[in-house]
Amino acid sequence: MQASKFWDNIAERYAKRPVADEESYQKKLTVTQGYLQPDMDVLELGCGTGSTAIIHAPFVKHILAIDISAKMIAIAQNKVDAQSINNITFKCTSIDELSMSDNTLDVVLGLSILHLLENREVTIAKVHNMLKPNGIFVTSTACLGDSMKFFKIIGPIGKFFGLMPLVKVFTVKELVDSLTDAGFSIDYQWQPKKSEAVFIVAKKVA
Ligand SMILES: C[S@@+](CC[C@H](N)C(=O)[O-])C[C@H]1O[C@@H](n2cnc3c(N)ncnc32)[C@H](O)[C@@H]1O
Repeated sequence: MQASKFWDNIAERYAKRPVADEESYQKKLTVTQGYLQPDMDVLELGCGTGSTAIIHAPFVKHILAIDISAKMIAIAQNKVDAQSINNITFKCTSIDELSMSDNTLDVVLGLSILHLLENREVTIAKVHNMLKPNGIFVTSTACLGDSMKFFKIIGPIGKFFGLMPLVKVFTVKELVDSLTDAGFSIDYQWQPKKSEAVFIVAKKVA
């Protein structure tokens, strides 16, 4: 099943689902906002129903928030319309198809997305190109290679039956290596528990 179809199918349920770990989510928002400035241009990859973009919008100039699922984007757009938020642009596109000029963004957000991509290195390199020198890439990523290695076997079965999206299995170290190999330095790293996503703020080395 195509990724867009999988996420379209679950968009309504995803929108209603409460955040799994509210305390960790709040901490990630606070840490992220420590990097935001009112003149900043932000891109969010895989924005889902737009909740995080809406929270950060008052602290920056503009957020372009993209998602491969038209249903996720429709829910997100309804939310900003209802709240008259005018500095977020939602766009239905895949990360691969997104075209942005180099050295133009201050911050890129990639929350619960890098493990869902066929090739995270390609996306990390693309983000590095799009960011200005010293720009920031904020990620939160499930690294199942540390806690659920068996997912390498059950993941493809779940995907085959349309029960799961593509999920790549890698460790925190492998993720950190992908970021540093692409030219990022790790500015902040936090993982609430081994079984939870690792939150990393990576800076494009000038
Ligand atoms: C687990 S959800 C995370 C949503 C949101 N970032 C959050 O933290 O709640 C993953 C999102 O990424 C989107 N997505 C998956 N693959 C994508 C791709 N290749 N390009 C753009 N969006 C993608 C899905 O449609 C889905 O909305």
